Amino acid sequence: MKRIMVTGGAGFIGSAFVRYQLRTYPDVHIVNFDKLTYAGNLNNVKGVDETRHTFVRGDIADAEAVMSAMKDCDAVVNFAAETHVDRSIMAAADFIDTDVRGVHNIVEAAKALGTKRVLLVSTDEVYGSIAKGSFKETDPMGPRNPYSASKAGGELLAMAYFHTHNVPVIITRGSNTYGPYQYPEKVLPLFVTNAIDNQPLPLYGDGKNVRDWLYVDDHCTGIDCALRHGEPGQIYNVAGENERENIVLTRRILELTGRGKELIKPITDRPGHDRRYSIDASKLKALGWRAAMEWDTGIASTVRWYKENEWWWRPIKTGEFLEYYKRQYDNR
Ligand code: NAD
Ligand code: TYD
Repeated sequence: MKRIMVTGGAGFIGSAFVRYQLRTYPDVHIVNFDKLTYAGNLNNVKGVDETRHTFVRGDIADAEAVMSAMKDCDAVVNFAAETHVDRSIMAAADFIDTDVRGVHNIVEAAKALGTKRVLLVSTDEVYGSIAKGSFKETDPMGPRNPYSASKAGGELLAMAYFHTHNVPVIITRGSNTYGPYQYPEKVLPLFVTNAIDNQPLPLYGDGKNVRDWLYVDDHCTGIDCALRHGEPGQIYNVAGENERENIVLTRRILELTGRGKELIKPITDRPGHDRRYSIDASKLKALGWRAAMEWDTGIASTVRWYKENEWWWRPIKTGEFLEYYKRQYDNR
C-alpha cells in the first residue's frame, strides 16, 4: 500500500491517522481529502512531511472530486463525516449528505477504479445502547440518533457494494475517542477547556451515561490493523475497554485542571441519549491488535496537552463555535 487516500484527514482522528501513517511507513504517500468544515483544521497536520502528503480540499458528496482524487490510490480510508450527535439533533441534512451520500461516492469510485481496499471508519454508536455485556459485530444495528443512523446508512450501502460489486470494503466501529486536537464541542475537550477558563461544565441528565474511552493513537492502530490484515466484507470493533460514567470523567477532569466541583452544571438531558455503549474487540485482537494506552496516563497527558496548547483551541472557541454553544446550551 503506497498511496492512501485519507478523507477527513484534517479532523481529529483522521489527522492522527495521517501522522501515524507517515511516521510508521516510510514509503507511504497520503492524499488528504477534506472539505474543511467547521471541524476541519489544517493546524492538525502542521509539521507533517509535506513531500509525502498532498492536501486536496474537496467534498466527499461531490462524486467527480472523489473520483479524481482517488485515481492512482491503492486504498481509501474514510474518516470524513459530520460527527456530533447534538448537531445532528439540531439539523440532520449535512449528516445524510456526507455520511450516506459521501460514502456512496467513495464506493462508486472504488468500483470504477478497482481500488484495492476501502476502509470505512464507523462507530460503536450504530449498535445503540446496551444495558449489560458488550456488542459483537454479529449483533444487529439499532442506531437511535440522526448521527448514528446516518453512519449506519453509510455502512449498509458500503457493505451492499461489497456483496453486489465485490468492492473490498472493511468497516471498523470504534468507541468514544479522546486525545489531542479534538474539536472542543465533544465532551472531553469541551470540559477541559471550560475548566481551564473557570466556566461551567454542562453535564447532561444524571451524568450516569457510560462511554468506553479509546485513546486516539490506539484507534489509529486498530484501523491500520483492519486495513492491512482484515478481510474484505468484515466488520471490526475497536474498543477502549475503559468504561466510565460521565460524572466520573468530569470529576477526573476537575482534579487534573485543579478546579472544584462547583463548576459542574447539571442540565436537561439530550433527547434520545444512549445510556451505555460497550463493544467486544475480540475479533480485531485475533488479528494482533491491542490498545497500548492506559487510561490514567492517557487522560493526564491529554489534559496537559490542552493546557499547553491554547494556541490550538482558543481560536476555535470563537465565531461559529460560540453561536453553536449559545444555541445548544442557553436556557437549559
Ligand atoms: P471530526 O469531526 O473531528 O472531523 C471530521 C473531518 O471530516 C473534518 O476534518 C471535516 O472537515 C471533514 N469532513 C466533513 N464533511 C466532509 C465532506 N463532506 N467531505 C470531506 N471532508 C469532510 O471527526 P472525528 O472525531 O475525527 O471522526 C472521524 C471519523 O471517526 C468519523 O467518521 C466518525 O464517525 C468516526 N468515529 C469518531 C469517534 C469519536 O469519538 N470521535 C468514535 C468512533 C468513530
Ligand atoms: P459526546 O462527546 O458528544 O460523544 P457521543 O455523544 O458521541 O458519545 O458526548 C459524550 C457523553 O457526554 C455523552 O453521554 C453525552 C455527554 N455530554 C454531556 O454531558 N455534556 C455535553 O456538553 C456534551 C457535549 C456531552
